[in-house]
Amino acid sequence: MSLNSITVGIDRISFSTSQYYIDLRTLAENVGTCAQKYYQGLRQQKMSVTPPNEDIVTLAANAAQTIVATEPNKHIGILLLGTESSIDQSKSAGVYVHRLLGLSKYCRVVELKQACYSGTAGLLMACDFVRQNPDQSALVIATDIARYERNTPAEPTQGSGAVAMLVSANPKILEIAGTTSAYVDDVMDFWRPNYRREPLVDGKYSTNVYLDALQKCWERFKQLSELSLNDYYSLLFHVPFCKMAHKALNKLAENESVDEKKFSAFQNKIEQAIQYNTIVGNCYTASLYLSLLSLLENAEESLAKKRIGLFSYGSGCTAEFFTGVVQEGYHQYLYRDMHQKHLSERIELNYEQYVKMHDHHVNAKDNAFVPTGDYSVGSFAFVGINSHQRHYQAVDEVEYAYAG
Ligand code: HMG
Repeated sequence: MSLNSITVGIDRISFSTSQYYIDLRTLAENVGTCAQKYYQGLRQQKMSVTPPNEDIVTLAANAAQTIVATEPNKHIGILLLGTESSIDQSKSAGVYVHRLLGLSKYCRVVELKQACYSGTAGLLMACDFVRQNPDQSALVIATDIARYERNTPAEPTQGSGAVAMLVSANPKILEIAGTTSAYVDDVMDFWRPNYRREPLVDGKYSTNVYLDALQKCWERFKQLSELSLNDYYSLLFHVPFCKMAHKALNKLAENESVDEKKFSAFQNKIEQAIQYNTIVGNCYTASLYLSLLSLLENAEESLAKKRIGLFSYGSGCTAEFFTGVVQEGYHQYLYRDMHQKHLSERIELNYEQYVKMHDHHVNAKDNAFVPTGDYSVGSFAFVGINSHQRHYQAVDEVEYAYAG
């Protein structure tokens, strides 16, 4: 069999976020802004807030555990973890996740970084890995905590979450095409020096750079693929805040001939694709894939055989446009009920609780422990730092609470 004849792509996809959120009406009231600015101006309603015993490792393990548990026979040959909320300058967060998930000792693990783009780097590398090793699967996890300084314009665009994707030959959910178009430009729109907890961001400039990168990727992709806007059923974009997806669609439509009916169909699909993002917020590397999941799990009609365009953007910047075709029978392989239960059971925070969680900084020092009983988590908890080593446990193994 030639490598080109193998179809590869997303075989399973699962998501996890924090157990806590703040309604942006609460934030607006307390920072003296009109709630409509967030609800309409940014199209954001809620954002996930992470407690001290949750980090990118626990989010990632929580997102991936269902896939690993329901697909025990898949031979996972590589784990690629994309993040920009790294917890260590050297050791990959993926190695902790690998242990928590009980993966084979013969599975490679690496962490990837390029702002919000690195989940896409992981996904496309995973597709190449499976093309070369069709009897193996790759586990890709995009996991992040989007945290900005309080009382800044970026504050309502925080959030957190992880999306895990199993990439296999003959995928059950989304076949990913080999042709893609990437674009890179050395710009300072958003960055986080190693000595800072929160990023620096030139917000308005970042939205312009994003749109410019989209246009560049799109023009090149058209040349490479000969596909036009009309060949797509829906277009998905990196979603730092939900209005951005509409801005991106408007940008593409500026220079393309697309009739009103088709344009309004694209807008309608975006609405389905931001249902989860609007109540979770930005989760950097995971945002595009949360949007894909939202479309798959909330679409009003079957997506089988439909072509989807995906635009990934990571500040700094690297961007890529690529496409996928949804597979027949895909809906049987989704964990829709589990995701919707998880989202609906989150706990709402008042403003003071949000401030306390936002400002808690356990990573700043050694011998900092998290009182595990104080906060609700998924199946895995971060229990603290001791001798400069991070400790994680499956929740039912946590037998004691460290003193704070
Ligand atoms: P801002 O100061 O809130 O902007 O910052 P604004 O005053 O222009 O208001 C935003 C929108 O609300 C505008 O709509 C206003 O008209 C509207 P627009 O013109 O954009 O359509 N508005 C109202 N609407 C209804 N009722 C009202 C009202 N008042 C105003 N009363 C900004 C917004 C996004 C810049 C800020 O939140 C920010 O800096 N966010 C972080 C950066 C970001 O998300 N950038 C996006 C592109 S870069 C990216 O995606 C990469 C990233 O994910 C990181 C990575 O790659 O690692 C961030």
